[in-house]
Amino acid sequence: MQTYTLKVVEIRRETADTVTLCFKQPALKKVKYKAGQYLTLIFRINGRRYIRPYSFSSAPMVDSTLDVTIKRVPNGIVSNHINDVVKVGDSIEVMSPMGDFVIPEDNSCQAIFLWGAGSGITPLFSIAKKILHENPMIKVNLVYGNRRRDTVIFSSAINELRNNHSEQLSVWHFHTEAVIDEALPHVVQGRIDAEEVLNSIMELDIRQGLHFICGPIGLKTSVKKSLEKRNVSLDSIFSEDFELIKDPADFKGIHTETIQLNFKGERHSLEIIKGKSILEAGLDANIELPYSCQTGNCSSCKGRVISGQVRMIGLTKQRQDLLNDEYLLCCSYPMTENVIIEI
Ligand SMILES: Cc1cc2nc3c(=O)[nH]c(=O)nc-3n(C[C@H](O)[C@H](O)[C@H](O)COP(=O)(O)OP(=O)(O)OC[C@H]3O[C@@H](n4cnc5c(N)ncnc54)[C@H](O)[C@@H]3O)c2cc1C
Ligand code: FES
Repeated sequence: MQTYTLKVVEIRRETADTVTLCFKQPALKKVKYKAGQYLTLIFRINGRRYIRPYSFSSAPMVDSTLDVTIKRVPNGIVSNHINDVVKVGDSIEVMSPMGDFVIPEDNSCQAIFLWGAGSGITPLFSIAKKILHENPMIKVNLVYGNRRRDTVIFSSAINELRNNHSEQLSVWHFHTEAVIDEALPHVVQGRIDAEEVLNSIMELDIRQGLHFICGPIGLKTSVKKSLEKRNVSLDSIFSEDFELIKDPADFKGIHTETIQLNFKGERHSLEIIKGKSILEAGLDANIELPYSCQTGNCSSCKGRVISGQVRMIGLTKQRQDLLNDEYLLCCSYPMTENVIIEI
């Protein structure tokens, strides 16, 4: 996969554990992207290469820089490196923008619903800015869950958007550790309650709107359930996962196996300990395999199974584009002894 470098021109601290990196748009070969897509950053930390995707928090035609916003994950290698080490002036290796969490080209909706929690706000913020900038007729409803006021990413920018687009943008904040304040009627105590939000909106807007969800699995499940109850078509619901959710039950029949991995003309013998994906085992063995999302979305890690049986676990979207012998190694686990994979 082709990569290039972008220069950090500004770093904004959004909350105690979250920063925004603003990259300079190259003057000649501008980086093209859509609101809701992500940029993949590549780092070398203590000699090992790490690749991580981050959704754009900037919006094309609205922001002059290319922005990504990164929240620390406890013990996370790259998110902590970015929060602690990256500085203005650094050049960072990136891949071209990717992702399908975007507004469909042919859409004619009159309302858009953005459901997010924590760092899940990033692609939603980008989509909100794009719509508010380009489509004054589309109502934007942002529902955002956090622990407290001080953990709200883009807090003042969201307020500013609400002040500038008071007719078009509605915002609901849900705070699990909220202190109820009569001066802040749009802040609700507790986890995001989709029913409470939807009950205050016209049925037609809900049914004919587009719904974008980015946050933990619990949020996705509860919002989808409430939308399905209101007969919202599945085609109008889009979700983005920052992490692959694995169900332990899917690992039945999978054991630790040694496989052969053929990559760039070399044959590697790899022990895949039960629970690790073939991609993770390869990276742990310091093989610089191609990858990005690690959630079965981008296809960068696609390999061909030459012999043996492999199972993919955790895919949330149907992948009809994969041939019978093609597997996404970030979600793949060997099921038999004689597995040979080529990438
Ligand atoms: C399409 C996509 C877009 C993304 N956009 C953003 C974004 O805009 N902002 C952002 O902050 N992150 C985003 N992420 C998550 C990001 O790519 C990294 O996964 C995250 O920063 C953790 O990387 P790390 O190297 O710090 O943690 P690692 O060292 O990889 O992981 C350390 C531990 O944390 C757990 N973990 C990994 N990822 C997460 C997570 N997201 N939440 C909770 N626990 C986790 C792992 O299971 C592991 O146990 C996105 C992910 C995807 C797939
Ligand atoms: S890394 Fe994206 S599909 Fe595997």
